Parts: sequence; structure tokens; C-alpha cells
Amino acid sequence: MSVTQPASSRAAEILSRPVSINGLTVPNRIAMAPMTRMFSPDGIPGEDVVSYYGRRAAAGVGLIVTEGTYVGHESAGQSDRVPRFHGEEQLAGWAKVAEAVHAGGGTIMPQLWHIGMVRKQGEPPFADAPAVGPSGIRVDGTEGAGKAMTQRDLDDVIGAFAEAAAAAERIGFDGVEIHGAHGYLIDQFLWAGTNRRTDAYGGDPVARAKFAAEIVAAVRETVSAEFPVVFRYSQWKQEAYEARLAETPEELEAILAPLAAAGVDAFHASTRRYWLPEFDGSDLNLAGWTKKLTGKPTITVGSVGLDGEFLRGFAGEGAPVKGIDDLLDRLERDEFDMVAVGRALLQDPEWAAKVLAGRFDELKPFDAAALRSLS
Ligand SMILES: Cc1cc2nc3c(=O)[nH]c(=O)nc-3n(C[C@H](O)[C@H](O)[C@H](O)COP(=O)(O)O)c2cc1C
Repeated sequence: MSVTQPASSRAAEILSRPVSINGLTVPNRIAMAPMTRMFSPDGIPGEDVVSYYGRRAAAGVGLIVTEGTYVGHESAGQSDRVPRFHGEEQLAGWAKVAEAVHAGGGTIMPQLWHIGMVRKQGEPPFADAPAVGPSGIRVDGTEGAGKAMTQRDLDDVIGAFAEAAAAAERIGFDGVEIHGAHGYLIDQFLWAGTNRRTDAYGGDPVARAKFAAEIVAAVRETVSAEFPVVFRYSQWKQEAYEARLAETPEELEAILAPLAAAGVDAFHASTRRYWLPEFDGSDLNLAGWTKKLTGKPTITVGSVGLDGEFLRGFAGEGAPVKGIDDLLDRLERDEFDMVAVGRALLQDPEWAAKVLAGRFDELKPFDAAALRSLS
């Protein structure tokens, strides 16, 4: 297709193409990015959560990655309003979410989460559990605020991820996403700033990736061979936007190769602005490098659809914002395979339907008020 075609019809055409992840056919290229909403009292996703996800699937989102949901380990989280991925009532709630998404024609994966040293206060049911991490160090460098994990702790957490993945397959989800991004537990191992271990889990990038690779391998072993396993990671941390796991493509490869070998089917490379080049000398973004280095299907993310950026380029923070044609060009060049959309989909449940039908004039600008309700 020629780039002289109007952006709206070109977007509709390119984003409507199905894509396959380990045999799972996702009906189009639009994913919903995982977003913590804290609307699940007692960790149970209720009817409002069911319709929140169901609505977006019915309006064309091809793959929903749920908000981060705690695996079954006492230190995995801290809020009792974040949904848990263990326990009878919690999983029954999740089964209804998966059913609603399938009824809408979408596919869905839970994002499996352990917050590690981010844990500060405890709420029931695990009010007294300690924060745990590779070295008991918080992302901001605070030492002594938690426990450096023993081999027993590592094994327990690896088991909790595997159990959650097994539950996901059992109750009808289409795959799982392992949350290895943004400064939470798995990322605390990947990042040298929080991982000062001198055993096999610390040191060079390969050693720092060992815990993540063991989680992937345990999940892979527990679920069916055709059940997709996605791994999300980022350079940036929630409490350190400038932090980086890898300064060079070689360092990145050292981290990603063991994960791919352990059984990751697709990577979700989390960036805050998808158009920024990751390393000098190439236009490839983090997702582009991830695909180039691993050969795996890859999801990109970061400010797609916000404030009209999807429609027109303008000067933004850090680098000029590129418009929709740039995103579509990258998809056509196979730099990555899917585009995850976060805040624009909170604002407008119909966002995917509008984009897939070329109805750009109906898109609504993002307003932070959307964060306060589950509409
Ligand atoms: C309210 C909110 C909650 C989020 N929660 C999560 C989460 O649970 N897990 C995760 O990996 N990322 C989380 N993120 C990051 C998003 O998945 C996404 O990467 C980010 O918002 C950038 O995409 P966007 O610019 O399209 O919003 C969250 C973002 C927002 C706005």
C-alpha cells in the first residue's frame, strides 16, 4: 500500500491483520496494555471488572493483557484492591473476565506480578509479610528495607508463577504475560542497581537474568506446549525513569537470549514513547531491537493515541513525536508485531473499533479523569 493513502484507511488495513503467537491467533494488531486499576476488593475481580474488559474486547481489542495480578506468594503485593491470581473466588472472578473477552471476540492473558521490594505497607491477607528482593534494596537505593531472598524464597516464588500460569490455562485464558518490567521483583533481579548478589543470580547480565529464566522455564513446563508465554520488560523503572538494564545491544541480547531459550513466545518491550530509538546508530526502538535480537514476535507500547499524537506529529519531550504513518511503517517493516495501547483505551473503550474502522475523527483526547473510574 502506498503511503499517500489516507492515514485512517492505512491504519485500518495494517492494524486489522491477524497475528500468531505460538499458535494463538490474535485477530488484529491492537493489544490493551496492562493497567493496575485497584477495583477488585479482596483481590476479586467483580462484575464491573468483567464488563470493563469485555467492553474493550467487543470493541475490537485483539489481545487484552490484564492489569498486574498477584501470584500466590505472601509478599507478592500490598493492596487488597489489586486482583489476585490465586484463591477460589478470585479465580472464579477471572474466569468470568476471560469468558466475557472471548464473547467479545478478543483474546486475553493475565499479567502475573510480584512487586518485590516495592512493597511498603501490608494489607490483608498477608499484612505482616516482609518485602523481598534480590538484595533487600529498593529501586531508590534504600538498603535494609526488606529481605534478601534465600534459595527457598526463590523456589517459592518460581513455584507461585508456575501455579498461576497453570490456573490461567485451566480457567480459559489464552496465555500469560510475566511482569518483568518497571522495577518490580523480576526487574529487580535484571537490574544491577537492585541486584548485588554474589551467588549465581547476580553479577553479569546473564546471571541477573537467571531468576527470570527459571520462572519462564517453570511456567513453560507447567502449561501446555502451545500455551503462549509473553515476557514484559523495560529499561525504565517506576521510581527511576532514566535507569537502564542494557547500554548496548550486546548487553540486551545477554539478558533476552536466556529468556527466549527458556521458552518465551513473545516479548512486550515497555517504553514510555514508542518512537524513541533505543541505541545510537539505529532508528529501532526497544521492541525493534528485541525482535531483531531474539527473532520472537514483539509488542511495542508507549504513548500511542495520546493527545492526538496518533494522528499528527508535533514537537514533544525528548524527540519529535512521530505520527501514525511512522508506527505503520515500522509494523510493515516487521520491526515489531503488535501495538499495546494503555491510557487511550482507558479514556475510550471504543478506541480500537474507531481506529480499525478508520473513524479517526471520533477519537477522544486523553483526560486523567479516566483513571478514576472503571467505565
Ligand atoms: C493507570 C496505569 C496503570 C498501569 N499498571 C501497569 C501494570 O499493572 N503493569 C504494567 O506492566 N504496566 C502498567 N502500566 C503501564 C502501561 O502498561 C503502559 O506501558 C503505559 O501506560 C504506556 O502506555 P500508554 O502511553 O499507551 O498509556 C500502567 C499504566 C497506567 C497509566
